[in-house]
Amino acid sequence: MTRVWWRTTLAITVSILSLFPNIADAFDGGGSQPKQQPTLCDELILPAGYPCSEYVIQTKDGFLLGLQRVSSSARIEYAGERGSPVLLLHGLFMAGDAWFLNQPEQSLGFILADRGFDVWVGNVRGTRWSHGHISYSEKNKHFWDWSWQELALYDLGEMINYINLVTNSKLFVVGHSQGTIISFAAFTQPEIVDKVEAAALLSPISYLDHVSAPLVLRMVKMQIDEMILTMGVHQLNFKSDWGASLLVSLCDTRLSCSDMLSSITGKNCCFNESRVPFYLEQEPHPSSSKNLHHLFQMIRQGTFSKYDYGKLKNLKEYGTFKPPKFDLSRIPKSLPLWMAYGGNDALADISDFQHTLKELRSTPEVVYLENYGHVDFILSLQAKQDLYDPMISFFKSLGKFSSI
Ligand SMILES: *[C@@H]1O[C@H](CO)[C@@H](O)[C@H](O)[C@H]1NC(C)=O
Repeated sequence: MTRVWWRTTLAITVSILSLFPNIADAFDGGGSQPKQQPTLCDELILPAGYPCSEYVIQTKDGFLLGLQRVSSSARIEYAGERGSPVLLLHGLFMAGDAWFLNQPEQSLGFILADRGFDVWVGNVRGTRWSHGHISYSEKNKHFWDWSWQELALYDLGEMINYINLVTNSKLFVVGHSQGTIISFAAFTQPEIVDKVEAAALLSPISYLDHVSAPLVLRMVKMQIDEMILTMGVHQLNFKSDWGASLLVSLCDTRLSCSDMLSSITGKNCCFNESRVPFYLEQEPHPSSSKNLHHLFQMIRQGTFSKYDYGKLKNLKEYGTFKPPKFDLSRIPKSLPLWMAYGGNDALADISDFQHTLKELRSTPEVVYLENYGHVDFILSLQAKQDLYDPMISFFKSLGKFSSI
């Protein structure tokens, strides 16, 4: 066992090092000019017949984020004004497209629009639908100097602020995976949570110390996060040559590549295999190596805290040797929460989820789906019946929908 382990580690390390000359390839695109790329509205939403508009907002630390606003397709007539705003927050290595990847009658973004919601689609910094930074290009290492902590406090904070301003209304938030991590962290901040009406969290994550995904545990044990940071790789882009080779080298050894998705997310019950080539046109989106390192810190240390720089730098950044915790009990008891978790989810483990529940002051409405893996929450062919209909009933039960 140990010998196999070391041989595997060695093989992977060698193959990573042999990729070193190609690392510059990871920094594709970018530059200081704004990208003239198709937008999310153009690619997925308008072609499906849904009105869609693009917005760009700027975070306190200078990132330019893309936001899309989607309303009901012409097929469904609505008298009167727009319904309540709802913000969709994607997971790690995904972006706003995540909510529009299946048929319109199967995908949450389209379903919410057809049910009369004013749908806003978030895209965090670094994803292909965000628009860079006011002074750094994507080639600059400072562009990638952030983790989910900044996604929570700056990106999500700004999105909520902006939507609240435009609509003059509190909003619903729907998150998946990393989108729930940043929601939990942001909701501990009174100035952010005050503008939130309620939240629905799919595969909710705050603690990560019971992750069971074999490929993730292997990367944690091999310290891939520290290795790539030491090598000076700041952007994590699996669509680049070296990123793709890294994945192949990981699954080459003991895991079969065809099972790669399961070994990261757990077994997904209701996944449309024949749609994978279409999904891969969009996914995965880039993230930062620092973000991966922060997530791995949570797995290693069992904490839900700010980024750990090591004792001395923590002292400088935070005034304490240990990074401050995000205290879930600071989320107001009055914030209505709806959560759904899965029995086969290898990332949002059941015991970690119980830990989250224990620390919250409120008692959320909870849906448990025994056969759901991590990706089923956005891509399951049965998600509408299993999840989205009950979620929408929850939102509508909150009394803002008397006219619909
Ligand atoms: C699965 O994906 C294929 C390819 O995109 C599509 O033609 C088919 O309709 C999908 N199946 C279901 C049940 O949605």
